[in-house]
Amino acid sequence: MAAKNILHMLTPHKHVSPFDVNMAADAGFDVIVPYEAVTLEEVGDLVQDAIFSRPPHDGASTAIFFGGDDAVLALDMIDAAKNALVPPFGTHVFADPQGSFTTAAAMVACTEKVLQAKKGRGLKGARIAVFGATGVVGYCAAVIAALEGAEVTLVGHNGVERVQARADEMKQRFGVDVAAVNGASDAEKADVLKETEVVFAAAKAGVRVLTASLLSGAPKLLAAADVNAVPPSGIEGVDVFDLGKEIPGTAALGIGALAIGNVKYQTESGLFKRMIASDEVLALDFRDAFTLARTLVPEL
Ligand SMILES: NC(=O)c1ccc[n+]([C@@H]2O[C@H](COP(=O)([O-])OP(=O)(O)OC[C@H]3O[C@@H](n4cnc5c(N)ncnc54)[C@H](OP(=O)(O)O)[C@@H]3O)[C@@H](O)[C@H]2O)c1
Repeated sequence: MAAKNILHMLTPHKHVSPFDVNMAADAGFDVIVPYEAVTLEEVGDLVQDAIFSRPPHDGASTAIFFGGDDAVLALDMIDAAKNALVPPFGTHVFADPQGSFTTAAAMVACTEKVLQAKKGRGLKGARIAVFGATGVVGYCAAVIAALEGAEVTLVGHNGVERVQARADEMKQRFGVDVAAVNGASDAEKADVLKETEVVFAAAKAGVRVLTASLLSGAPKLLAAADVNAVPPSGIEGVDVFDLGKEIPGTAALGIGALAIGNVKYQTESGLFKRMIASDEVLALDFRDAFTLARTLVPEL
């Protein structure tokens, strides 16, 4: 009898995300078990408890998922899980805290497609400003873009210190050089926008970070992506369904939250399905999500 596909869902929070539980069940896992208030130090023991219960060839029917809302902690948990494996005993490992890895992957992939299809260029060398960069989605989008060769700037909404700390962490963990600036006031945002070619708006739901007036002072802007689906939009003039539509009053193209969400949904589902289908154990983070998301953006 084929081994059941078992998913252990670990979160540092009080609850695992019902969204992720539904996604995993619809992707085809037979058994889904939540583990809550899990600390980084507990990950290794839980992983070893899971892997030694099944013969090695059934390791690829076992998966560990990390939720939460902290990209760095989720990446640390992936590392802790990988370090706990005892070959030939193994398990799949996948993190998507607050849906951020797959959302960021979808945002960058949609933006790349719009740039390629309508502006004749890619992410390499693009000057990208990330608003909401201390959040999980902004963090991952910044790293993905920087790894693709973009010139990324993290824009803080209340000073430069916290975004600079994120930039330092990205350098240490991923080897990418990312700039950090303060964008608390409209004047500071306007200054950032003068040289910006691409905006990623990943601020808190319901917060408008860029007005039409600010966008009109961004002469080099090619595209602006917004992941906030809760009105008002994060970027004025970008509709949630836009995928490469011109933003009124500018020559830039908008990418909206539900266009991104459509690709995000397929990406998360696709990674769950990939674990179920694979005979080899996989370790998946936002870089794998980006690789898949790139294949899922509709043709323009
Ligand atoms: N479309 C989709 O598929 C999808 C999926 C998941 C999430 N989302 C959306 O993606 C966005 C980011 O999610 P997240 O989980 O990364 O959120 P988050 O962790 O709450 O981070 C939000 C970011 O916004 C910043 N922020 C808070 N108040 C602000 C303000 N008044 N002005 C400017 N920035 C402010 C936060 O800064 P602090 O560090 O100071 O708090 C943080 O950098 C949200 O809008 C969420 O709804 C979309």
